[in-house]
Amino acid sequence: MSEHDALRVESLRKSFGAHVAVDDVSFTVRQGGSLAIVGESGSGKTTTARMLAGLERPDAGRILVGGRDRAGAARGRAARLARAREIQMVFQDPYLSLDPRVTVAACVEEPLRLHFPHARAAA
Ligand SMILES: Nc1ncnc2c1ncn2[C@@H]1O[C@H](COP(=O)(O)OP(=O)(O)OP(=O)(O)O)[C@@H](O)[C@H]1O
Ligand SMILES: [Mg+2]
Repeated sequence: MSEHDALRVESLRKSFGAHVAVDDVSFTVRQGGSLAIVGESGSGKTTTARMLAGLERPDAGRILVGGRDRAGAARGRAARLARAREIQMVFQDPYLSLDPRVTVAACVEEPLRLHFPHARAAA
């Protein structure tokens, strides 16, 4: 549909104090593509993912989703929801990520209700 890459990351940098956690990271993910980032503990994988999700602000570099720059804060509920629809974290540890008191159906239903409020019946 779009000629843009699904995700384009250009020269991303993030420091915590004097420690450079992410140093000049660039990559591209095409529509329908996938990418694995592999590296030793502390090499900046989670920090990179947190910047993509908007949980951490880059010191430098650009993140483009479908060709649109993610710089700048999302203002208001609608803008925040639109951003969250574009990128979501899937945390790997089920014991930390999944609440045993919440059913699978409720887990799946909540984001559908948030992001597709008019599709109640389909959900
Ligand atoms: N909020 C923070 N404050 C200070 N230092 C941080 C913070 N978050 C990450 N760091 C540091 O940044 C570096 C990169 O950490 P990060 O968690 O991104 O690595 P990682 O590649 O995900 O490691 P792991 O494989 O262990 O998950 C590490 O040195 C870490 O200690
Ligand atoms: Mg990590």
